[in-house]
Amino acid sequence: MEFGWKLFLFLSFLNAVIEAIDLKIATDRAVQIVSDKYLSIAIDTGIIRHNWERLNFSSPKVESLARALSPCYLRVGGSEADFMKFSPDTHNVRFYNQSDLYMSDYYDNKFVNFTMFSNQFDELNNFVTKVGWSLIFDLNSLLREGGQWLPDNAKLLMDYTSQKGYKITGWELGNEPNSYKHHIGYSISGSQRAKDYSKLHSLLNQYPQWRNSVIIGPSTTQLSKTSAEKYFTEFLQTGGPDIVTNPTFHQYYINGREATIDQFMDIDILNSLMPEINKGNKIAKHPPYGKTWLGETGSAYGGGAPGLSNTYVAGFMWLDKLGISAIGGLDVLIRQTFYGGHYSIIDDETSDPLPDYWLSYIYKTLVGRSVLNVTVDDPEGLVRMYSHCTNVKRSNYTAGSITVYGMNLGDDFKTINFPQYGDDVTLHVYILQPQDNLKSQSVTLNGRHLKLNEDFTLPNVLTPVTRTGNVSFPPQSFGFIVLPNFKAKACQTAYSYL
Ligand SMILES: *[C@@H]1O[C@H](CO)[C@@H](O)[C@H](O)[C@H]1NC(C)=O
Ligand SMILES: *[C@@H]1O[C@H](CO)[C@@H](O)[C@H](O)[C@H]1NC(C)=O
Ligand SMILES: *[C@@H]1O[C@H](CO)[C@@H](O)[C@H](O)[C@H]1NC(C)=O
Repeated sequence: MEFGWKLFLFLSFLNAVIEAIDLKIATDRAVQIVSDKYLSIAIDTGIIRHNWERLNFSSPKVESLARALSPCYLRVGGSEADFMKFSPDTHNVRFYNQSDLYMSDYYDNKFVNFTMFSNQFDELNNFVTKVGWSLIFDLNSLLREGGQWLPDNAKLLMDYTSQKGYKITGWELGNEPNSYKHHIGYSISGSQRAKDYSKLHSLLNQYPQWRNSVIIGPSTTQLSKTSAEKYFTEFLQTGGPDIVTNPTFHQYYINGREATIDQFMDIDILNSLMPEINKGNKIAKHPPYGKTWLGETGSAYGGGAPGLSNTYVAGFMWLDKLGISAIGGLDVLIRQTFYGGHYSIIDDETSDPLPDYWLSYIYKTLVGRSVLNVTVDDPEGLVRMYSHCTNVKRSNYTAGSITVYGMNLGDDFKTINFPQYGDDVTLHVYILQPQDNLKSQSVTLNGRHLKLNEDFTLPNVLTPVTRTGNVSFPPQSFGFIVLPNFKAKACQTAYSYL
């Protein structure tokens, strides 16, 4: 019996050894250069309706977490942007009613008109200024008359913003217009939406500081559908290459209410993103169009999957999306959300960072702008790897270093070899694993539990395990491998310094 058990262990070990895979990186040239704000985030406009819920802009913890993600865009937008009117009046209520948090809007699909008061807008602007985020604000496009967008309320907001001296980086008009039929019962065509955006341009031209704003849209969703593809095409063809600085579409893998844990690690589901990116890039060809963004994206739509989208397992979708989108040529991903819903990266009660916060923070620390081609010789497709030049500025690695990142979706350890570089190549390994199980809200880095320091500063995450020649990548986990001082040709350019 005991011998049998030992034999089993030995065979498992042998099996692990056999399951070695080769990873090759093309280090001569970068195949894409992404924005320095590639990893960006969102807060849903619905949170404003609830007076920012429990998001405490004065909290030093929230401030520290936010600052550590800078530079990034904060997009404040979503379905409820189309139901919000700005008022220069002030109104001081703090919303704390748990039973009425913004999730209920999603679940009941009940969208009601509401007012954003100037003090609520002040809080937002003071916060983004403090933490160094670049704000993109989504305007109500359903204020209409005779089929045309009425820009009066947008003008009121811009006058106020201008008078206060707030720096808004970008603008957006409406949200997911190809779903209006479902949300509001009538449609606005892609060509009409282009006319609405022309009006937005005219309005912005009245303010010298916003003449060169970032303008994103049309924020179509479910690009896998022909109707969405048509909408996106019609909008761009009517508006031309300058109608938006960056064409956007939205993407979620699955429905939050029906999601299962297996879906978060399902190869076919993870693979469903690339065809959408290819479609988006084909419609909005760069040039002449600006580079395409995922203007809002997450794991599961409908506010996220409870108990999944804000746990360790969500990291597979997030990291794979970061990898695929960069290689696919997208310039920015706006992750739904920083705060709010079941897919937030900070906890909605304690504001503590969740696993996807840590993943995002480490990503920003180690991953630079220049994207390299990688091939992984894994017939099962369970090991998914991406590579960029290392972020030299944030990490203190030298120019020429390479970061490989990705995951092992399989149930066994996988040995990753780097045959190009011989048996003595130095590898700095950063493996993220859940504290307990895949649904854990705590994460470990090389076995060390990640948490904020007492004074809310971020802990040092540049604490690799050093390996020579190969890496034994644990089952059902993700992480980063840095090849330091590598002198990769593609990584000597200025882009890789960021
Ligand atoms: C927000 O955070 C500040 C600073 O920690 C604290 O003084 C204040 O009570 C918090 N506000 C609420 C509503 O919890
Ligand atoms: C919270 O909201 C629910 C539903 O809107 C309402 O029935 C309840 O009375 C509210 N509770 C408080 C303490 O205001
Ligand atoms: C919300 O505002 C829009 C624009 O003014 C208006 O057309 C619509 O009827 C309003 N909806 C409700 C439920 O009041």
